[in-house]
Amino acid sequence: MKRISAAFLPPIALDHRAKTPMYRQLYDWFRRAIIDGQMRPGQRVPSTRGLAAELKISRIPVLNAYEQLLAEGYFETFVGAGTCVAGSIPDDTLTTPALKTRKGLPEVAEKLGPRRMSRRGAALARIPAQSWLDNLGAFRVSLPALDHFPIGVWSKLVARHSRRPPKGIMAYGGAMGYLPFREAIAEYLGAVRGVRCESSQILVTTGSQQALQLSAQVLVDPKDRVWIEEPGYPSARQAFMMAGAQLIPVPVDHDGMNVAEIIRQGRSARAVYVTPSHQYPMGMTMSATRRMLLLSWASRTGAWIIEDDYDSEYRFGSRPIASLQGLDTDGRVIYVGTFSKVMFPALRLGYVVVPKDLVRAFAAARDAADVFSSTLYQAVLTDFIREGHFARHIRRMRSLYMERRRALVKAIYIEMGERLEVIGAEAGMHLVALLPRGADDVAVSTRAAQRGICAMPLSSCYLKPPARGGLILGYGGANAHQIHDGVRKLRMSVQGPLG
Ligand SMILES: Cc1ncc(COP(=O)(O)O)c(C=O)c1O
Repeated sequence: MKRISAAFLPPIALDHRAKTPMYRQLYDWFRRAIIDGQMRPGQRVPSTRGLAAELKISRIPVLNAYEQLLAEGYFETFVGAGTCVAGSIPDDTLTTPALKTRKGLPEVAEKLGPRRMSRRGAALARIPAQSWLDNLGAFRVSLPALDHFPIGVWSKLVARHSRRPPKGIMAYGGAMGYLPFREAIAEYLGAVRGVRCESSQILVTTGSQQALQLSAQVLVDPKDRVWIEEPGYPSARQAFMMAGAQLIPVPVDHDGMNVAEIIRQGRSARAVYVTPSHQYPMGMTMSATRRMLLLSWASRTGAWIIEDDYDSEYRFGSRPIASLQGLDTDGRVIYVGTFSKVMFPALRLGYVVVPKDLVRAFAAARDAADVFSSTLYQAVLTDFIREGHFARHIRRMRSLYMERRRALVKAIYIEMGERLEVIGAEAGMHLVALLPRGADDVAVSTRAAQRGICAMPLSSCYLKPPARGGLILGYGGANAHQIHDGVRKLRMSVQGPLG
């Protein structure tokens, strides 16, 4: 059995005035902790010397208590591993009232019925579980080619900053983030995305999800209307829902969100969430006319535009599309970006470019949420960018993803002919494959998940039932073999359940 370290001393409170002898109090405490599951089988217990020192008592009662626990089979000793909680608890404890109560806990909750939480909490609990996200198999959306990440360079940079870290890396930092990192981001965004900003406007976040959440909290009151793309990014929906917003789905067509139509209908909103460079999930680009329309509507009505520019580094056939923020002359756009796709998602680094008059409010919201992001990784990524590794990595990944996209489109065609209709621009790290009319995409995704494939159903991106189901297939993290094998399994999943 794997031994679990005893690095932490347990919180034992001894009553020095009680009649119960010290060894007995210790014995009772350990026995209860084991029965209640606070101490797990295989867990190391502290050394008698260490525990006696911690509790400021003599070693004798500790030795006596341990001896008793060993004799009754609660503890075991192993050469080299010290004393541990026994792998199997003595049978008599299984009938103790303590264990019965513990086992009974969920039943109590069931008897009492659903317990009261906030309306928001209840709505969150109703979000359906997504079984297809439980595996890391082929086609997981947003997964980059992790095996092509320059881990050698990265680990050298991590070591450089961790060897003798200055105080600034280890102490509390400012809510907006590490200044050299914000300067590097501002430079990058100006050069590559046409974003007009100063480093003072950049707030480093825990991925773009936190940027969306902060935007919702700072800009939207409960019941305020927020336009969102239909279909759109489910996690953005959740961020606005958490702020109590009323979500208004606005259909997308080949020019992106149909702003013209919703403005014509005269429906107001406090904010709008858009992915203009590469609509999520459908993949089109918002037309210049719609961009100008959206900006002038926002200026006229005082609404905020939250622009999520999540993967614009990757365009295969054409030049990158400039950001909406760069066209904004009225400070209505809040620009959100992420390092999840160009680096790796577990880094949890993103940013939001905030209009100058909102900087204080965003910084305070971040401070109230979780103070700031890990400075170490901000410093490491600053060097990664400044020393040219970032630009090189993006260049390499652009041609890799282009190849992977082509391989996926070809494999879909070979395996399924025209039964699946591939849509979306030659960009990013995912595509949408529309299923034959009438097919249930959740059922297909569930069947694919049983075969170890992570194909997200298109309907999960809709607020209203979609006219046609489909699959969102990420190809960034899938190599040629995984693409071919994955598409074969997809064909079987489209055809029917596991036989
Ligand atoms: C539309 C969109 N925005 C943002 C993200 C990135 O989210 P995060 O930065 O929180 O990892 C994704 C990743 O799936 C996405 O699809």
